Amino acid sequence: MKLFLSRTSHESLTDQIFYQLAGRIQTNMISGGEKLPSVRQLSADSGVSFLTIHKAYKKLEQAGMVKSIQGKGVFVERPVRKETFVSAFDWQLAIPGYLTRSSFHSRPKTTYAFDYSAMNPGLLPTMYLADQLKDMLKAEPAILGTYGEVQGDAQTREAFAAYLTTQLGLSASADELIMTTGLHQGIELIAKALIGPGDVVVTEAPTYPGVLDIFMNRGAKVIPIAMDEEGMRADLLAHVAKTYHPKAMYVNPTFQNPTGRSMSARRRKEVLHQAQLHGLFIIEDDSWSELYFDEKPPPKPIKSLDDDGRVLFLKGFSKALAPGIRVGTIFAEGPFKQMLLTAKASSDLGTPLLTQRAVLPFLTSDRMRQHFEKLRVALELRRDKTIAILADSFPSSVSWTIPEGGLNIWLTFPDNVSTMALYEYCLQRDLSFLPGHVCFPYEPPDHHMRLTYSLMSEHDLTEGLQLFAALTNAFLKEKR
Ligand SMILES: Cc1ncc(COP(=O)(O)O)c(C=O)c1O
Repeated sequence: MKLFLSRTSHESLTDQIFYQLAGRIQTNMISGGEKLPSVRQLSADSGVSFLTIHKAYKKLEQAGMVKSIQGKGVFVERPVRKETFVSAFDWQLAIPGYLTRSSFHSRPKTTYAFDYSAMNPGLLPTMYLADQLKDMLKAEPAILGTYGEVQGDAQTREAFAAYLTTQLGLSASADELIMTTGLHQGIELIAKALIGPGDVVVTEAPTYPGVLDIFMNRGAKVIPIAMDEEGMRADLLAHVAKTYHPKAMYVNPTFQNPTGRSMSARRRKEVLHQAQLHGLFIIEDDSWSELYFDEKPPPKPIKSLDDDGRVLFLKGFSKALAPGIRVGTIFAEGPFKQMLLTAKASSDLGTPLLTQRAVLPFLTSDRMRQHFEKLRVALELRRDKTIAILADSFPSSVSWTIPEGGLNIWLTFPDNVSTMALYEYCLQRDLSFLPGHVCFPYEPPDHHMRLTYSLMSEHDLTEGLQLFAALTNAFLKEKR
């Protein structure tokens, strides 16, 4: 097992080991019942003393995450669900691997799925896209026989540049865009080009769990920064930037995943100012700024205020258009674009031409405006329904955000309630949500959760919310 350790970090080696193992356990990369490497083995793999490893294991035991069994070893203490530990495969654990956490690979599918931040396929223009794709392939079958360029198809980049310029108020040219396979890949490419072991990155707290996986798996130290009503707190950012010299900050300023909140226009300026003052990149994730409610468009992207290539702006259409296509772009000005092209080339040599061309008809027609208009109405209705049922049926000790757009609501329980325990309870009744701890690095609070209201059919959403209220009330009663 490989750990990313830094001897210059302000955190002790014991704590670094503890947090990295805790992350793997919390996100099920190491499952319940699995045996940790022996103290001797991990000490050899990571080049630190037996005593340091022993102390980290003790800390995990005190946190209730592992159990040490005399003469047998140290075992992970979580309920074993499907996985059984097959000893014939033990040898695999002796070969060190690098990854430290993952939030996505082991979640069970349920009927009442409040956990997947995605759209109900019925809300997406899939028939239109299929027809356009058929016509396009008939007219130009060579698309299937051609590799895409590393930077991305020139026609698609032109269309994305026009979209960013006319719809989002940026001034982008096709040459400044790199096409990616989903927005997530854009973040991964930036991390690959910029972030290595021991580097510091800041994020909002809570944040999109996928970026924690990316940054932590590159060995970065992630510093989460609390938010208030206006978004990431600029005073805390200033302090962290001065003290820890981060290389980059990741923000999802519009209808943020997981809280649904948006950063105010004033805070966008302050955050950019801090980044300029302290010399760090801003990675700005715009997954769904088109999906606003109450006819109130959000403030313009931070990128629109950028005059020195500080903001790496990421746009994707997986959520609002076609998760089965997953095309996104990075808008990067200045010499750093070359690094990103190298990262893209070493990752996959370019996004498939087919998927890039598949979004072209949509991007270049009025169909896009009509689709977003309809989607806004449908999502606003779902948000209102969700808030109404929460207000009617949930205990008064639970509070929630009221998103002004997007797909997610963030719930906060009293801090003695474990949403992970509630999650296990709800899973037995075929209902799931995202336990909030995966949205924080290291020692995460366990009394939040994210509810996504966009994935289920309207019927299942209503039924699911009623079931969820009943389960939550019963769970809290049992706990008393
Ligand atoms: C905030 C945010 N950014 C990026 C992604 C990944 O998007 P894509 O599917 O385009 O890679 C997600 C997916 O959940 C997300 O929630």
